[in-house]
Amino acid sequence: MVRTLATRLAVVATLAGALAACASETPADEAPADAIAEPAVLKERQDNFESIGDAFKAVRGELEKDTPDFGLIAASANDINARAGNIERHFVERTSIDDGFDTEALATVWEKPVEFKAAAQKLLDESADLAAVAASGDKAAVGAQAMAMGGACKDCHDQFRLDDEK
Ligand code: HEC
Repeated sequence: MVRTLATRLAVVATLAGALAACASETPADEAPADAIAEPAVLKERQDNFESIGDAFKAVRGELEKDTPDFGLIAASANDINARAGNIERHFVERTSIDDGFDTEALATVWEKPVEFKAAAQKLLDESADLAAVAASGDKAAVGAQAMAMGGACKDCHDQFRLDDEK
């Protein structure tokens, strides 16, 4: 996972500032109350996306074979579908890169909640369609639907995820 140096520095600076501000009145063995703690939801959502990425990789791996395992493609599509259903609740707390967290989530997630919800719904729909088409065993149709699902990833990333490839 690539994190920007700027993000790390921002987090370190924020923590250092919070610690310095509390140093005088806080015993060393107690965490200062106003330090920014990494919310558990951050790791949960990144693990969730990591697994979505792995499942998508598995789909593409099968489609490179002459005789893809359509059962595995369907299972991966169902896994992605279940995980797509977690996305919204992983973004309830405002935890963007602009809030000083070690994340690639842009502030637009919270600024455009309707669009974000629609982008998550698109992945739900496309992954359900992929699971359904996989049952047909028609490689060309499954390949086309896998591409369509990939479009749902890209749509959301283009609007809501930091592009650190540039
Ligand atoms: C509704 C929006 C949305 C959709 C749909 C979406 N992503 Fe993402 N994805 C994000 C955001 C936002 C992040 C950054 C999360 C963070 O760093 O906290 C992310 C991060 C990731 C990561 C990095 C996870 C990590 O280790 O931090 C991977 C891999 C990924 N997405 C793959 C995919 C794939 C593959 C799909 C489609 C099958 C997909 N995503 C669909 C919004 C989305």
